[in-house]
Amino acid sequence: MFISARSPLLPITAGILTVTIFAIDALTPLDIAIAVLYVVVVLLSVAAWPRRGVVAMTSLCIVLTVVAYATSHGLAIYDAALARCLVSLAAIAITAFLALKGQAAANALIQREEALHQAQTQLAHTSRVTTLGELAASIAHEVNQPLAAIATHGEACLRWLNRPQPDLEEARMAVDGMLRDAHRASEIIRRIRAMARKAEPSYVALNLSEVARESCDLVQRELARTGVQLSLELQDDLPPVRADRVQLQQVVINLLMNGIQAMTEAHSKDRSLSVTSSLCRTEEGECVALTVSDTGPGFPVAHIGRLFEAFFTTKKDGMGMGLPICRSIIEAHGGRIQAQNNALRGAAISFHLPVIAEGVIHG
Ligand SMILES: Nc1ncnc2c1ncn2[C@@H]1O[C@H](COP(=O)(O)OP(=O)(O)OP(=O)(O)O)[C@@H](O)[C@H]1O
Ligand SMILES: [Mg+2]
Repeated sequence: MFISARSPLLPITAGILTVTIFAIDALTPLDIAIAVLYVVVVLLSVAAWPRRGVVAMTSLCIVLTVVAYATSHGLAIYDAALARCLVSLAAIAITAFLALKGQAAANALIQREEALHQAQTQLAHTSRVTTLGELAASIAHEVNQPLAAIATHGEACLRWLNRPQPDLEEARMAVDGMLRDAHRASEIIRRIRAMARKAEPSYVALNLSEVARESCDLVQRELARTGVQLSLELQDDLPPVRADRVQLQQVVINLLMNGIQAMTEAHSKDRSLSVTSSLCRTEEGECVALTVSDTGPGFPVAHIGRLFEAFFTTKKDGMGMGLPICRSIIEAHGGRIQAQNNALRGAAISFHLPVIAEGVIHG
């Protein structure tokens, strides 16, 4: 790298200069320290060769200086001429020393730059792989929920139909549930395809309490299956937020499912899930807040800082994508989400979204 960038003229110039200086020094009776000019040869050789070449050229210059002195003055010691010779030798040696140090520093810099470049390439590659992995995990996670719900509805429907006296009304409700979840799955897929095309989500004015109610409807069967009591404290007259309906439903369903799973896994006796919506005032101005609170084991203190990390999970079959997805959706809507333990028991996750400033409702 350092050598290949050099011009082939440099070694030739250094060679010609060396011969010329030696000829003048050895063959002419000039009373000046002509050998000092060897420092130019040393500097040229730094640009032309690596360390070994520089050391060889410096040694050659030193030998030629001594030979020229011996040729023109014999073995007799002339004070002035000897002083000039010594000054030249010192100049050559010091120049070579400093030039070699400079060359080593330049080489180290080039090596560091190369290492940095490699690290950047590696990082770009890693983050591409991570993004792809996260996207795949998020698709699998979001589509899995409605599909699992469809299967549960289907099983329930079969049970109602296989009774000696088929209960058509219950079967019809199960099929309704299947249709609702199937629409949800296809809506999620439509949204993911739109995301892949980088299309904007469809933001409309929404009442957060209404979205929460719809989301709770979608997990009714899961609540019944796991024996979880749901209590809603939803204010109906909340000002609207500007949001994508399916994305907000995803957030609420993720929070509900986490609460249900936490209480079921811990075999909690009293399994209660409460969903509360309210108006609040934050640093961002007027907001509406939603809290999903459970009576499960709560978060271990050591986990609180990691809950929103991608792939952080304590579940055997968990992907650790639920909360990171919730956070990225809420933040994309200009809101915040946070997790904390309840004073008595259980966990609570709340998020808030800014309310639409009057007259600013875009579809
Ligand atoms: N309500 C809760 N009570 C106790 N722990 C919780 C609760 N909600 C989340 N957690 C903890 O946070 C972790 C991360 O939750 P997250 O929803 O991101 O992933 P997950 O539920 O493990 O997997 P999935 O990707 O299927 O949602 C959980 O594994 C669990 O340890
Ligand atoms: Mg989860």
